[in-house]
Amino acid sequence: MINLSNKQIILGVSGSIAAYKSAELLRRLKEAGANVRVVLTTGGAEFVTALTFQALSGNPVHSELLDTKAEAAMGHIELARWADCVIVAPASANFIARLAQGETGDLLSTLCLATAAPVAIAPAMNQQMWANAATQKNIRLLDENGVLQFGPGEGNQACGDIGPGRMLEAEQIAQLTADIFHTGSLAGRTLLITAGPTQEAIDPVRFLSNRSSGKMGYAIAQAAAEAGAIVTLVSGPTALNTPPHVDRINVRSAQQMHDAVMQHADKCDIFISTAAVADYRPVHTADQKIKKTQNTITLELQKNPDILTDVAHLENAPFTVGFAAETENLEQHAREKLQRKKLNMIAANLVGEGLAFENDENALLVLTANTKQQLTLTSKFALGRELIEVIARHYQAAS
Ligand SMILES: Cc1cc2nc3c(=O)[nH]c(=O)nc-3n(C[C@H](O)[C@H](O)[C@H](O)COP(=O)(O)O)c2cc1C
Repeated sequence: MINLSNKQIILGVSGSIAAYKSAELLRRLKEAGANVRVVLTTGGAEFVTALTFQALSGNPVHSELLDTKAEAAMGHIELARWADCVIVAPASANFIARLAQGETGDLLSTLCLATAAPVAIAPAMNQQMWANAATQKNIRLLDENGVLQFGPGEGNQACGDIGPGRMLEAEQIAQLTADIFHTGSLAGRTLLITAGPTQEAIDPVRFLSNRSSGKMGYAIAQAAAEAGAIVTLVSGPTALNTPPHVDRINVRSAQQMHDAVMQHADKCDIFISTAAVADYRPVHTADQKIKKTQNTITLELQKNPDILTDVAHLENAPFTVGFAAETENLEQHAREKLQRKKLNMIAANLVGEGLAFENDENALLVLTANTKQQLTLTSKFALGRELIEVIARHYQAAS
């Protein structure tokens, strides 16, 4: 069973007789866990109705570019940013020609140009149309531009011909789509990742905590598992589901997180600390609920152990990646933390009202001793995958 959980996929459907197979493809992508939005070209809409795709995807179907209502709902740039990948299946000869020329006269070709996500086409056409020099030239152009190509297959065609040009079956396209995300860049590597907030008990019902949702750490854990790593996630309290193929250890306090991490740290290749660990905890935790008897009370706090520093200073320290959440002077504070804690890498983000912690999107400034790379604003899942690729590159260079 393929796994596409948390993937946001645009399924483009253009004008080919094979468009009936797109409904089955949509079902397969959904079954694998993807959230799918269908973009239908004018030609595609002649073969299968928007209603079918809307009912199967559970999302409105997008087809108009120059339509104020459609733009107000989810405009072409928003759609292009939303996508983790764009799969055009079927890709008609006409659509392939438009994409090869970089045309932007319709919604699907425009968003293929506007997206930073991988774009794949599954060509479907008569064998003579496929063999035609113009089509082959367009296919070469798309290949040079980094557009992925799924198929076509060979065999009996709807027009009665036999030869290459058949769209691949839904199952094959779904598998190839899943393969886009499985890079293998961390195959066999052992990763330890922390995520979420910690809770520092004041009494049996109250605690000190922070606004971390855990989404960034969970997205990184998922991306690492997709890249082939063996992943252990040490998580503070969150409302999130464990990503597939990730081993999760639940903790509550910073001390518990420290203990769990130190048990595993000397056995891992890479340690990524995304958790928002409380710097301080109450000196005393009351046995019973504190009563509202006094006008003011004082809470005395003591420092928690520094998980990141302790891992980075191990004799056989793993490749250690820290996170810096700052409200100002991002690069300066992050670079100081990188040096002070002897980290291999730090990923820094601005936090504050409406930023990072509770959002589904984020941006990161990634620093090592000699490098600096900006990962621009995108979904935490896409960002997790980008960061894992950066970490894999630096880890390989360092080992
Ligand atoms: C019955 C019928 C079947 C067609 N099948 C295909 C096809 O399989 N592949 C293709 O490239 N064009 C096919 N065409 C031609 C396209 O539908 C036509 O080029 C259309 O403009 C493409 O629309 P699009 O640009 O929105 O993809 C077919 C046309 C008809 C009338």
